[in-house]
Amino acid sequence: MAKPEAPREKTKPESTIVEAKFVAAQGISGGGLPPPTFAEVAFAGRSNVGKSSLINTLVQRKNLVRTSSTPGCTRQINLFEIRAKDGATLLLADLPGYGFAKRSKDERKEWATLIEGYLRERPTLRTLVVLFDARRGLEPDDLELVEFASAPRGRSLTPLSIILVATKVDKLPRSEQKSILGRIAKSTSMKVIGCSAIDGEGREALWAAVRKLSHLDAAPPTIS
Ligand code: GTP
Ligand code: MG
Repeated sequence: MAKPEAPREKTKPESTIVEAKFVAAQGISGGGLPPPTFAEVAFAGRSNVGKSSLINTLVQRKNLVRTSSTPGCTRQINLFEIRAKDGATLLLADLPGYGFAKRSKDERKEWATLIEGYLRERPTLRTLVVLFDARRGLEPDDLELVEFASAPRGRSLTPLSIILVATKVDKLPRSEQKSILGRIAKSTSMKVIGCSAIDGEGREALWAAVRKLSHLDAAPPTIS
Protein backbone atom coordinates (compact mmCIF):
# COMPACT_ATOMS: atom_id res chain seq x y z
CA MET A 1 0.00 0.00 0.00
CA ALA A 2 1.16 3.56 -0.66
CA LYS A 3 2.79 5.42 2.24
CA PRO A 4 0.31 7.63 4.19
CA GLU A 5 0.56 11.27 3.15
CA ALA A 6 0.41 14.20 5.54
CA PRO A 7 -3.24 14.96 6.43
CA ARG A 8 -4.90 17.52 4.16
CA GLU A 9 -7.04 18.83 6.97
CA LYS A 10 -5.97 20.72 10.07
CA THR A 11 -6.62 18.91 13.36
CA LYS A 12 -8.69 20.95 15.82
CA PRO A 13 -7.94 20.74 19.56
CA GLU A 14 -11.25 18.97 20.28
CA SER A 15 -10.42 16.30 17.75
CA THR A 16 -6.88 15.63 18.97
CA ILE A 17 -6.78 12.21 20.56
CA VAL A 18 -4.48 12.10 23.56
CA GLU A 19 -5.14 8.53 24.64
CA ALA A 20 -6.19 5.39 22.76
CA LYS A 21 -6.04 1.88 24.12
CA PHE A 22 -7.43 -1.60 23.54
CA VAL A 23 -9.99 -2.57 26.20
CA ALA A 24 -11.51 -5.98 25.43
CA ALA A 25 -12.72 -8.36 22.74
CA GLN A 26 -15.74 -10.57 22.24
CA GLY A 27 -15.65 -13.43 19.75
CA ILE A 28 -18.07 -16.19 18.89
CA SER A 29 -16.28 -18.63 21.15
CA GLY A 30 -15.03 -16.50 23.98
CA GLY A 31 -14.00 -13.22 25.47
CA GLY A 32 -16.40 -10.66 26.76
CA LEU A 33 -17.08 -6.96 26.81
CA PRO A 34 -16.83 -4.97 30.06
CA PRO A 35 -19.97 -3.56 31.66
CA PRO A 36 -21.22 -0.51 29.74
CA THR A 37 -19.65 2.82 30.73
CA PHE A 38 -18.85 5.51 28.13
CA ALA A 39 -20.83 6.15 24.96
CA GLU A 40 -19.91 3.63 22.24
CA VAL A 41 -19.55 3.98 18.48
CA ALA A 42 -19.42 0.85 16.30
CA PHE A 43 -17.82 0.50 12.86
CA ALA A 44 -19.45 -2.01 10.51
CA GLY A 45 -19.24 -2.89 6.83
CA ARG A 46 -18.09 -5.50 4.33
CA SER A 47 -14.77 -7.27 4.86
CA ASN A 48 -11.83 -5.24 3.60
CA VAL A 49 -13.81 -2.02 3.28
CA GLY A 50 -11.38 -0.26 5.64
CA LYS A 51 -13.07 -0.26 9.09
CA SER A 52 -9.93 -0.96 11.13
CA SER A 53 -7.85 1.46 9.02
CA LEU A 54 -10.38 4.24 9.50
CA ILE A 55 -10.36 3.75 13.27
CA ASN A 56 -6.56 4.15 13.22
CA THR A 57 -6.98 7.35 11.20
CA LEU A 58 -9.69 8.67 13.50
CA VAL A 59 -7.58 8.12 16.61
CA GLN A 60 -4.37 9.34 14.93
CA ARG A 61 -2.50 6.09 15.57
CA LYS A 62 -0.78 3.99 12.92
CA ASN A 63 -1.19 0.58 14.49
CA LEU A 64 -3.73 0.63 17.31
CA VAL A 65 -5.95 -1.69 15.28
CA ARG A 66 -4.65 -4.52 13.11
CA THR A 67 -5.41 -4.14 9.40
CA SER A 68 -4.70 -6.37 6.42
CA SER A 69 -5.07 -6.44 2.67
CA THR A 70 -6.56 -9.93 3.07
CA PRO A 71 -10.31 -9.83 3.83
CA GLY A 72 -11.46 -11.38 7.11
CA CYS A 73 -8.76 -9.78 9.29
CA THR A 74 -10.97 -8.69 12.20
CA ARG A 75 -12.61 -11.78 13.70
CA GLN A 76 -14.15 -10.45 16.89
CA ILE A 77 -15.68 -7.31 18.36
CA ASN A 78 -12.67 -5.28 19.49
CA LEU A 79 -13.31 -2.42 21.88
CA PHE A 80 -10.99 0.61 22.22
CA GLU A 81 -11.18 3.50 24.66
CA ILE A 82 -10.18 6.92 23.36
CA ARG A 83 -9.91 10.34 24.99
CA ALA A 84 -9.74 13.69 23.20
CA LYS A 85 -7.74 16.69 24.39
CA ASP A 86 -10.86 18.31 25.82
CA GLY A 87 -11.56 15.21 27.94
CA ALA A 88 -14.35 13.73 25.78
CA THR A 89 -14.13 9.95 26.18
CA LEU A 90 -15.62 7.31 23.88
CA LEU A 91 -15.45 3.60 23.24
CA LEU A 92 -14.99 2.49 19.63
CA ALA A 93 -16.02 -1.01 18.55
CA ASP A 94 -14.36 -2.50 15.47
CA LEU A 95 -16.68 -5.21 14.15
CA PRO A 96 -15.83 -8.21 11.95
CA GLY A 97 -16.72 -7.58 8.32
CA TYR A 98 -19.57 -9.28 6.47
CA GLY A 99 -19.85 -10.58 2.91
CA PHE A 100 -16.68 -12.66 3.09
CA ALA A 101 -17.39 -15.71 0.94
CA LYS A 102 -14.56 -17.88 2.32
CA ARG A 103 -16.29 -18.35 5.66
CA SER A 104 -18.50 -21.34 6.31
CA LYS A 105 -22.26 -20.83 6.45
CA ASP A 106 -22.28 -21.78 10.14
CA GLU A 107 -19.54 -19.31 10.98
CA ARG A 108 -21.30 -16.50 9.13
CA LYS A 109 -24.50 -17.27 11.05
CA GLU A 110 -22.68 -17.20 14.40
CA TRP A 111 -21.06 -13.87 13.55
CA ALA A 112 -24.35 -12.37 12.47
CA THR A 113 -25.84 -13.41 15.81
CA LEU A 114 -22.88 -11.89 17.69
CA ILE A 115 -23.04 -8.57 15.83
CA GLU A 116 -26.83 -8.30 15.85
CA GLY A 117 -26.91 -9.03 19.58
CA TYR A 118 -24.33 -6.33 20.20
CA LEU A 119 -26.16 -3.76 18.06
CA ARG A 120 -29.54 -4.52 19.60
CA GLU A 121 -28.57 -4.94 23.25
CA ARG A 122 -25.51 -2.88 24.15
CA PRO A 123 -27.15 -0.11 26.18
CA THR A 124 -24.40 2.48 25.74
CA LEU A 125 -24.10 2.02 21.97
CA ARG A 126 -25.21 5.34 20.48
CA THR A 127 -23.84 5.46 16.96
CA LEU A 128 -23.24 3.01 14.13
CA VAL A 129 -20.82 3.99 11.38
CA VAL A 130 -21.68 1.99 8.24
CA LEU A 131 -18.74 1.92 5.85
CA PHE A 132 -18.88 1.07 2.16
CA ASP A 133 -16.32 1.32 -0.63
CA ALA A 134 -16.79 4.65 -2.47
CA ARG A 135 -16.15 2.89 -5.80
CA ARG A 136 -18.85 0.25 -5.26
CA GLY A 137 -21.51 2.28 -3.49
CA LEU A 138 -23.99 0.77 -1.05
CA GLU A 139 -24.63 -2.92 -1.67
CA PRO A 140 -27.64 -5.03 -0.56
CA ASP A 141 -25.81 -6.24 2.62
CA ASP A 142 -25.09 -2.64 3.61
CA LEU A 143 -28.69 -1.56 3.09
CA GLU A 144 -29.87 -4.54 5.13
CA LEU A 145 -27.59 -3.45 7.97
CA VAL A 146 -28.89 0.14 7.82
CA GLU A 147 -32.44 -1.19 7.96
CA PHE A 148 -31.62 -3.50 10.88
CA ALA A 149 -29.91 -0.71 12.81
CA SER A 150 -32.77 1.71 12.16
CA ALA A 151 -35.32 -0.57 13.83
CA PRO A 152 -36.28 0.11 17.45
CA ARG A 153 -34.06 -1.58 20.03
CA GLY A 154 -35.19 -3.73 22.91
CA ARG A 155 -35.73 -2.77 26.55
CA SER A 156 -36.45 0.91 25.75
CA LEU A 157 -32.87 1.55 24.62
CA THR A 158 -32.28 4.74 22.63
CA PRO A 159 -32.35 4.21 18.85
CA LEU A 160 -28.99 4.12 17.08
CA SER A 161 -27.78 7.09 15.06
CA ILE A 162 -26.31 6.02 11.74
CA ILE A 163 -23.41 7.63 9.87
CA LEU A 164 -22.72 6.53 6.29
CA VAL A 165 -19.05 6.61 5.32
CA ALA A 166 -17.70 6.05 1.81
CA THR A 167 -14.16 4.70 2.25
CA LYS A 168 -11.07 4.82 0.02
CA VAL A 169 -12.12 8.08 -1.65
CA ASP A 170 -8.45 8.54 -2.57
CA LYS A 171 -9.17 5.93 -5.27
CA LEU A 172 -11.80 8.13 -6.93
CA PRO A 173 -10.76 10.86 -9.33
CA ARG A 174 -10.96 14.15 -7.37
CA SER A 175 -13.22 15.69 -10.00
CA GLU A 176 -15.81 12.91 -9.58
CA GLN A 177 -15.84 12.55 -5.77
CA LYS A 178 -18.55 15.13 -5.13
CA SER A 179 -20.98 13.87 -7.74
CA ILE A 180 -20.52 10.19 -6.80
CA LEU A 181 -21.06 10.80 -3.08
CA GLY A 182 -23.92 13.21 -3.85
CA ARG A 183 -25.70 10.51 -5.89
CA ILE A 184 -25.39 7.99 -3.05
CA ALA A 185 -26.62 10.52 -0.48
CA LYS A 186 -29.62 11.34 -2.69
CA SER A 187 -30.55 7.68 -3.14
CA THR A 188 -30.55 7.04 0.62
CA SER A 189 -31.72 10.48 1.82
CA MET A 190 -28.80 10.31 4.26
CA LYS A 191 -25.63 12.34 4.52
CA VAL A 192 -22.50 10.54 3.29
CA ILE A 193 -19.01 11.37 4.56
CA GLY A 194 -16.18 10.52 2.17
CA CYS A 195 -13.06 9.29 3.99
CA SER A 196 -9.55 8.14 3.20
CA ALA A 197 -7.22 6.38 5.61
CA ILE A 198 -4.37 7.28 3.26
CA ASP A 199 -4.53 11.06 3.38
CA GLY A 200 -6.91 11.65 6.31
CA GLU A 201 -9.66 13.14 4.15
CA GLY A 202 -12.97 13.28 6.01
CA ARG A 203 -11.48 12.67 9.45
CA GLU A 204 -12.60 15.99 10.92
CA ALA A 205 -16.11 15.64 9.49
CA LEU A 206 -16.41 12.08 10.80
CA TRP A 207 -15.13 13.00 14.25
CA ALA A 208 -17.54 15.97 14.44
CA ALA A 209 -20.47 13.71 13.43
CA VAL A 210 -19.46 11.03 15.93
CA ARG A 211 -19.26 13.59 18.75
CA LYS A 212 -22.56 15.19 17.83
CA LEU A 213 -24.54 11.98 17.42
CA SER A 214 -23.04 10.43 20.55
CA HIS A 215 -24.07 13.59 22.47
CA LEU A 216 -20.52 14.25 23.67
CA ASP A 217 -20.94 17.99 23.27
CA ALA A 218 -24.32 18.21 24.97
CA ALA A 219 -24.39 20.77 27.76
CA PRO A 220 -24.76 19.15 31.19
CA PRO A 221 -28.28 19.43 32.61
CA THR A 222 -28.83 22.60 34.65
CA ILE A 223 -30.04 22.20 38.21
CA SER A 224 -32.59 24.81 39.25
P1 GTP B 1 -11.91 -6.83 7.86
O1 GTP B 1 -11.27 -6.73 9.21
O2 GTP B 1 -11.42 -7.99 7.06
O3 GTP B 1 -13.39 -6.78 7.91
O4 GTP B 1 -11.41 -5.53 6.98
P2 GTP B 1 -11.46 -4.00 7.36
O5 GTP B 1 -12.75 -3.43 6.87
O6 GTP B 1 -11.12 -3.76 8.78
O7 GTP B 1 -10.32 -3.40 6.40
P3 GTP B 1 -8.83 -2.94 6.76
O8 GTP B 1 -8.85 -1.68 7.53
O9 GTP B 1 -8.10 -4.10 7.33
O10 GTP B 1 -8.29 -2.55 5.30
C1 GTP B 1 -8.35 -3.44 4.21
C2 GTP B 1 -7.39 -3.01 3.12
O11 GTP B 1 -7.81 -1.76 2.56
C3 GTP B 1 -5.97 -2.77 3.64
O12 GTP B 1 -5.07 -3.19 2.63
C4 GTP B 1 -5.90 -1.28 3.82
O13 GTP B 1 -4.57 -0.78 3.70
C5 GTP B 1 -6.76 -0.79 2.65
N1 GTP B 1 -7.38 0.52 2.96
C6 GTP B 1 -8.10 0.83 4.05
N2 GTP B 1 -8.53 2.10 4.00
C7 GTP B 1 -8.07 2.61 2.84
C8 GTP B 1 -8.20 3.90 2.21
O14 GTP B 1 -8.81 4.84 2.69
N3 GTP B 1 -7.62 4.04 0.97
C9 GTP B 1 -6.94 3.02 0.37
N4 GTP B 1 -6.41 3.26 -0.82
N5 GTP B 1 -6.79 1.81 0.94
C10 GTP B 1 -7.34 1.61 2.17
MG1 MG C 1 -10.81 -5.06 10.35
